[in-house]
Amino acid sequence: MENSKIGVWLIGAKGGVASTAIVGLIALQKRLIAECGLVSALPQFRDIGLVPWEQLAVAGHEIRRSPLADEAQKLAADNRIISAELISQCRPELDAIDQRIRPGMILNAGPAIAALADVDIPPSETPRQAIERLRKDMADFVQSARLAHLVVVNVASTEPGVAAKSLPPTWAETDRLLDDPQNCPLPASSLYAIAALGAGYSHINFTPSLGAGCPAIDELARHSNASHYGCDGKTGETLLKSVLAPMFAHRNLGVLSWVGHNIFGNMDAKVLSDPANKQSKVASKGHILGPILGYQPNSLVSIEYLSDLGDWKTAWDHIHFSGFLGVPMTLQCIWQGCDSILAAPLVLDMVRFAELAHRRGHVGQMTFLASFFKSPYGVSEHRFDRQFQMLEQWAEKKGPFP
Ligand SMILES: NC(=O)c1ccc[n+]([C@@H]2O[C@H](COP(=O)([O-])OP(=O)(O)OC[C@H]3O[C@@H](n4cnc5c(N)ncnc54)[C@H](O)[C@@H]3O)[C@@H](O)[C@H]2O)c1
Repeated sequence: MENSKIGVWLIGAKGGVASTAIVGLIALQKRLIAECGLVSALPQFRDIGLVPWEQLAVAGHEIRRSPLADEAQKLAADNRIISAELISQCRPELDAIDQRIRPGMILNAGPAIAALADVDIPPSETPRQAIERLRKDMADFVQSARLAHLVVVNVASTEPGVAAKSLPPTWAETDRLLDDPQNCPLPASSLYAIAALGAGYSHINFTPSLGAGCPAIDELARHSNASHYGCDGKTGETLLKSVLAPMFAHRNLGVLSWVGHNIFGNMDAKVLSDPANKQSKVASKGHILGPILGYQPNSLVSIEYLSDLGDWKTAWDHIHFSGFLGVPMTLQCIWQGCDSILAAPLVLDMVRFAELAHRRGHVGQMTFLASFFKSPYGVSEHRFDRQFQMLEQWAEKKGPFP
């Protein structure tokens, strides 16, 4: 591709995933780190024309004032996941990106998220006014940085769920509600998605929040020739489930019960300790076993906040299964991962894949990105290897992707 810059607009730009992705991107641009953990750096994607790291420029929306470099510093001091030396090498770029982070908004985002906000958000904005402001922020970045395209990624805190029956099925009906704050059911994540997709930018929803995950906003995306995908990055316990469950299915071992217990202590976990926010995440983590196994075993997913664990998540899985002669057996495994380190490279990967999809003229849901998500829109295939083949086929321009 020619040398034009591509924008990365992060919603929740100072959170753990965003700060790690930003430091990682700067370090890649300065060739300070290797490409370990990056799917887009695998050999099969090397020659498909992905945008080089050097051509990506970052900005975004946030609801907290804390400087970006301080947030990155916290990851170094509290969680020991980035070295202080790397952060000081990236400091000038972090400060420059900080200048481009604009105040976001929290309409219908729930009290746990509202409690985080300390930036000046215009009071009494209607949803339409908020969308116009957010879209202007994005468009100003596109213009000032002379960007050829913008990929907007939602890495903000998880919102409480929205009842599907409260969502109008068409874009025309949804559009009418944007002037009516009392009756508009759309949460902040969806208003950001409308701002992005209505302007033709690509949108990725890395969170379990609603975002663009309803027919009306998908319709807007298609109408605007924009592409989008989500939801909820598959980085740890659910990734493991989507690899292990096919093994039980293919050996005809009957899974009797599957229990996943997750403990961690970052800000994401704190927001998820609100029962309304937690329900969105548990729903997203809990549903893949039935489609893979062909029956629904007893299953339980729990997520608990323990502040001392910081960004380090432990997930204990207890799988009780039945073998030949009905003999019951057990597999237990413990996943100890660093949440932001697992998630951040996937954000950077998806920016590159989404940007290439835009150049290839893709419109609507990017189903070839299913392997990156716990709840991939419009895809009932949850087996990780099959989902990954979809990505490889798309890369080779072989798959039938709507
Ligand atoms: N492994 C992972 O870390 C992982 C995996 C899958 C999904 N996710 C999801 O990604 C998201 C980010 O995770 P994190 O660990 O970085 O969380 P975090 O709490 O560290 O960061 C979230 C950031 O979003 C900001 N924010 C909240 N609401 C906002 C709004 N309406 N507008 C703008 N900014 C807003 C917060 O101030 C915070 O800086 C969460 O929804 C999480 O569930 C993370």
